Amino acid sequence: MAPATGRNKYLDDNQDRFIAQLLEWLAIPSISTLSEHKDDVNRAADWISKRLKAIGFPESRVLATDGHPLVLAEWLVDSKLPTLLIYGHYDVQPVDPLEEWRSPPFQPTIRNGNIYCRGASDDKGQIILVLAALEAWIKVDGALPVNVKILLEGEEEAGGASIARYVRENPEKLRADAVLICDTHMVHPEQPSLVTGLRGVLYTEIGVTGAKTDLHSGSYGGVAPNPLHALCLLISRLKDEDGAIRIPELTAAIPAPSAAEQQFWREDPLHIEEALRYEMGVRQLVGEKAYPPLERIGLRPTLEVHGIRGGFTAEGAKTVIPASAMAKISLRLPAGLDPDEVFAWLERAVHLNMPAGYGVHLANLHAGRGFHINPDNHFIRAAALALESVYGRPVVYMREGGSIPIAALFDAVLHAPVVLMGFGLPDDSIHAPNEKFGLEQFRKGMKTVAGFLGRLTDL
Ligand code: BES
Ligand code: MN
Ligand code: MN
Repeated sequence: MAPATGRNKYLDDNQDRFIAQLLEWLAIPSISTLSEHKDDVNRAADWISKRLKAIGFPESRVLATDGHPLVLAEWLVDSKLPTLLIYGHYDVQPVDPLEEWRSPPFQPTIRNGNIYCRGASDDKGQIILVLAALEAWIKVDGALPVNVKILLEGEEEAGGASIARYVRENPEKLRADAVLICDTHMVHPEQPSLVTGLRGVLYTEIGVTGAKTDLHSGSYGGVAPNPLHALCLLISRLKDEDGAIRIPELTAAIPAPSAAEQQFWREDPLHIEEALRYEMGVRQLVGEKAYPPLERIGLRPTLEVHGIRGGFTAEGAKTVIPASAMAKISLRLPAGLDPDEVFAWLERAVHLNMPAGYGVHLANLHAGRGFHINPDNHFIRAAALALESVYGRPVVYMREGGSIPIAALFDAVLHAPVVLMGFGLPDDSIHAPNEKFGLEQFRKGMKTVAGFLGRLTDL
């Protein structure tokens, strides 16, 4: 291979420094859902805002919100050039179960060519590789090739209410020709891919009450309501044993995929079904048999119970009928559906299916719309060409099952195509113990983003 010149050489030569910066940022435990980490979330925002200033952004600010701060930076080089808005999130998920981590979750550690740390792949590592690409342009070419706005949030993993409000209230400030989001993964380290769809999400909490107090299960068993049992019944009625969700309005609202997409899902030419089994460490997949696994992840809605609380679970035995029970339940939704409308459908289904004799309350904790884009546009072509030149292989287009609620809002408010070009890998264990980001993906990611920026101007 010819020696790297120009920007790629700069990225190679400075890679260790970029990694060192990433490790420093990763060590800040910016968990957005836990109030005891509020100061850490603020520190992570200050840290990245200072980095943006250091690479030369004339304007980089930390904006206070009702929740966690936003970071907004801007470098408008020439009003005749296109403007790219880059989004990322600097908050991370909680780390439990702690005992499963091979190195402490906020002590970034390099092993076998990977950086292990909470946030390494989702999303701090991907933000730092974008900054490296921007820095290469500034240092090697003297300026960015396009106007760049950067908007980072610290609340994505908590539903993103503050950024949603900011985007709705400031469409002029954020105006851009395209949006770049590096917060997804590719299908395989040798197979570059671009994400054409994300599912929406509706996260709820359900509380069930029975008697006014816990009861002796002998004295009252047979006549007493058991909220835990009723909750389990309800859950099994909302999603049956074949994996079908029993919310009729929702079933009726699922949009039809294109014929090409259906064929891709049916044929599964990249053998993703097998990869899924391997990633999860299971022998067989569950869910709606009538639909191929890729469709079950990319388009079909899901209903998952994340946790149930209630009654007695401590050491030994205690014969008690609990007075209340609670569950956290979320749905993933195909693009096009309004999650608040789905909440109303779910509420109806809950009241219809709840056994008689209980109090029940359903709360909407957060909701975000899904997203779908036709890849036939200039900005996605630029991304595909950039990926192909670094990875040496044609790109595949895929819908992902995860959610980035702000993607749909950018689309709706800014009317700009959203490019979902992520460099994570399916086995990065995001949200799980031992999250990692591959150094090779970091290296290739920097070069791909630098190439993408350069291609935005050749229309
Ligand atoms: N980066 C993920 C979303 C993602 C993961 C997209 C994998 C595609 C593939 C994001 O940080 C995330 O975890 N989103 C949450 C959103 C929710 C909390 C509103 C999710 O999907 O659970
Ligand atoms: Mn993310
Ligand atoms: Mn995440």
